[in-house]
Amino acid sequence: MQKLFLLLAFLGIFQTSEAQNNIIPAPVSYEYSDAMFMLDNQTSIDVRSENPEVRRYAELFQAFLAGSGNKVEMRFVATPDRMNKVIRVELNKTPDSELGNEGYTLEVNEELISLKANAPAGIFNAFQTLRQLLPREFEVTDEDGYAGLGMIMGCKIKDYPRFGWRGLMLDVSRHFFTADEVKAYIDKMVLYKYNVLHWHLTDDEGWRLEIKSMPKLTEVGAWRVERFGRFGETRPFPKEGEKATYGGFYTQEQVKDIVKYAAERNVRIVPEIDLPGHSMALLAAYPELSTKKEPHFVNPGSKFAEWYGNGTFEMLIENTVNPADEKVYEAIDKIMTEVAALFPEEYIHMGGDESYHGYWERDANVQKFMKKNKIADTHELQSYFVKRVEKIVNSKGKKLIGWDEILEGGLAEGAAVMSWRGMKGGIEAAKMGHNVVMTPTTFAYIDYMQGDQSVENKIYAELSLKKSYEFEPVPDGVDPKFILGGQANLWTEVIPNLPFAFYMSYPRAFATAEVLWSQKDKKDWNSFLNRTEVHFGRFDAAKTNISKAIYDPIVKVYKEGDKLMCELNSDMPNTDIYFTIDNTYPVQYGRKYLAPFEIPEGDLSLRTQSFRNGHPIGRSLQIHRTDLLKRVK
Ligand code: ACM
Repeated sequence: MQKLFLLLAFLGIFQTSEAQNNIIPAPVSYEYSDAMFMLDNQTSIDVRSENPEVRRYAELFQAFLAGSGNKVEMRFVATPDRMNKVIRVELNKTPDSELGNEGYTLEVNEELISLKANAPAGIFNAFQTLRQLLPREFEVTDEDGYAGLGMIMGCKIKDYPRFGWRGLMLDVSRHFFTADEVKAYIDKMVLYKYNVLHWHLTDDEGWRLEIKSMPKLTEVGAWRVERFGRFGETRPFPKEGEKATYGGFYTQEQVKDIVKYAAERNVRIVPEIDLPGHSMALLAAYPELSTKKEPHFVNPGSKFAEWYGNGTFEMLIENTVNPADEKVYEAIDKIMTEVAALFPEEYIHMGGDESYHGYWERDANVQKFMKKNKIADTHELQSYFVKRVEKIVNSKGKKLIGWDEILEGGLAEGAAVMSWRGMKGGIEAAKMGHNVVMTPTTFAYIDYMQGDQSVENKIYAELSLKKSYEFEPVPDGVDPKFILGGQANLWTEVIPNLPFAFYMSYPRAFATAEVLWSQKDKKDWNSFLNRTEVHFGRFDAAKTNISKAIYDPIVKVYKEGDKLMCELNSDMPNTDIYFTIDNTYPVQYGRKYLAPFEIPEGDLSLRTQSFRNGHPIGRSLQIHRTDLLKRVK
């Protein structure tokens, strides 16, 4: 075996240096050894624990191996080692205080793989790391998939997370993902040790959660007329009498099943009921809960808001509930009663973002209510609303979390804040002693374009992989104990299907995973990039979309006097960019980018192609001069 290893190492077939493990997120410590474990049908999993969760996690790993079609027969035994090759799973008899609940140790030797943790969650995470140590062919799930051996390099790993809240947010309102698709999204996130799914269940474009005491929420609120084309731009409003055919919702039985599925994979689900704004679907079902009490429709993605910049906006259709109406609180009580019963999670997210106060300002009853309750302005009114909702949520035995707007007019006492408009809301809340989840647009909005806008589904902002990786959830001067962690948010206005949801999530969700799991001193962009490329291969093997926009040039245009100038950069080392401005295809041995150049006037396009080692890599970009001109700031 030793000889084989040396031969393979000599041939460069696998990497041998300590720094070059390919695990994402990077573990606390990794030591390489020159042993090698060959996983095959002689291997058994030996679970030395009666704990049912540990047993289930082992079964999941067994199922993963079986599902890869590699014909590895797994033995599942609880007796002491009998076989030659054993994956041994056990809980520490004396807890290792460094590991906490989610940490683990993992050792790979010639005949033994040992997974140890203080608690079942640690065992689950250890299995995820072990999976990443296997060849990528194990991710192939086709019937005729990989049927080879699992060579695992010897190593000794100690690992535990930096933060306890490592989340992804999935918006199922703008695009409805089926229950199976939500499970598929969970399947992927847990490979990278995410442990929170923030489930954005309600918004203007659809109410997705069955509430038995308010059936119209899903009978009406879950359905909209079907529209294609650009969300919030060119989609026409519903026509008179047009049938609402697009949508869907999760029955309570489906929710319970998904919650259980998530829990079996160390994931908590934080449900979000977005109030008082983003409520057009709710108001379509129960218009009496608004000020104007007009019949509404569920928005099919038509433009109903004006955005004036600097966080100012106007909603041209009422999408806020009426905070001056007791019936609203009765409805929220009913909703929260059922939400609390469905989700074991300690937090309920009440949204609170982007609530437009114009209808409150213009309504005589709301004004009367404010006067009577000595509420000075609508910010205070929003604060009054949040505090009422918090009381309701607390009365169901849950804690409240909301977007950072819930700070305005005074934060409810025990509420946690999700900071999205930069970090400042989070800083303010932490300084007041509130728990915070950091999820700033600048680093964590994975609905933003990750590559050149000419090849991405267009949305109003950009977020590169590199920028995602620069995220640091604990700002200077803030007590880290108040920062629960962070998350990346997948809003789905321009994400109309699951494959594209994966494309938008990854690899940026690798970056966020590493930011949230790995120790700060492990942050290393170049190492991360190398590992990301290895995981491109794992996604390819699994036939799951992932964006390789990192290979594409970053196009920057500017004016120099009258001249239109262009600069091309790349976040990926070891790539060369070739380009043309004469409408020909940018072949290698053509014009290599070396310095900024002029784009002359004329009916012409900039065309680019990245190359590595003589091979085209990434996408070919083609941007007409008129479009380049529009980009000049
Ligand atoms: C948000 O992005 N409106 C929280």
